[in-house]
Amino acid sequence: MRLWPMSDLHTELTRGWDLPSGELRPDFDVMIVAGDLTPKAERGVKWLLNRVPDRPVIYCMGNHEAYGEDIDRTLEKAKAAAAGTNIHVLQNETLRVGKVIFAVTTLWTDFALHGDPHGAMALAGERMNDHKKIRINHYRQRFLPHHALTRHFKSVAFLKEEMLKPRGEDRLVVVTHHSPVRQASEAPRPESDRALDPAYRSDLTRLMVPAPDDGRGALRPADLWVFGHTHESFDIVIGLTRAVSNAKGYGPWPPREAAWENQDFNPNLIIEI
Ligand SMILES: [Fe+2]
Ligand SMILES: [Fe+2]
Repeated sequence: MRLWPMSDLHTELTRGWDLPSGELRPDFDVMIVAGDLTPKAERGVKWLLNRVPDRPVIYCMGNHEAYGEDIDRTLEKAKAAAAGTNIHVLQNETLRVGKVIFAVTTLWTDFALHGDPHGAMALAGERMNDHKKIRINHYRQRFLPHHALTRHFKSVAFLKEEMLKPRGEDRLVVVTHHSPVRQASEAPRPESDRALDPAYRSDLTRLMVPAPDDGRGALRPADLWVFGHTHESFDIVIGLTRAVSNAKGYGPWPPREAAWENQDFNPNLIIEI
């Protein structure tokens, strides 16, 4: 099966760029959009329907999908917009296409990357737009770091359960928005940026190596894990899992930004599974 994975297209901050179309489009069976397509996920569904009408598309919510919205309401609206179409809006849900099972969840984060989750949550609450621009509980409350943490634990439980299910010859592809791995590159960055890393990434590499049966079954890691959010390119095998990020990031926005943010983004990346 030929997968066409990408993320962080951020169409709200993009001008003069679009998905490859016609002969320029790679041959694919399933497209994967790992979040941050645009604020308001229902708009993202329409954008995809206009461009990819004829093959399954797996659409995972990013944090930006919920900006200016209630996080659960925008998911409901997106699911309604996608009902009966080839666009599959999934949250803590799986979809089978042929012999491939897709397990999809936004993921959020455990804030534990630097060993101080309380400090990381306090900092994220102060500095991250996620905790200013997203509403929860029928728009009544701000979406706070502890909401993200609760959702992260639910995501991990969902993914682990899928990995514990016997699956014979089937392949498992995990799709998340947030990163399950540490920093890809060691490029020097300001300390103030590094301090926010726990809001972007959790170390979930323990789910990428097989674990013996603890009474609930043996853990069989995913074959592929597609993620986004960090606006980087990443393609590394960890344990039994190939972890891939193919994020465009913001831009282009001519004349101010001539190109997209992540220079390594490949709009024609195909992964065979
Ligand atoms: Fe993004
Ligand atoms: Fe994001």
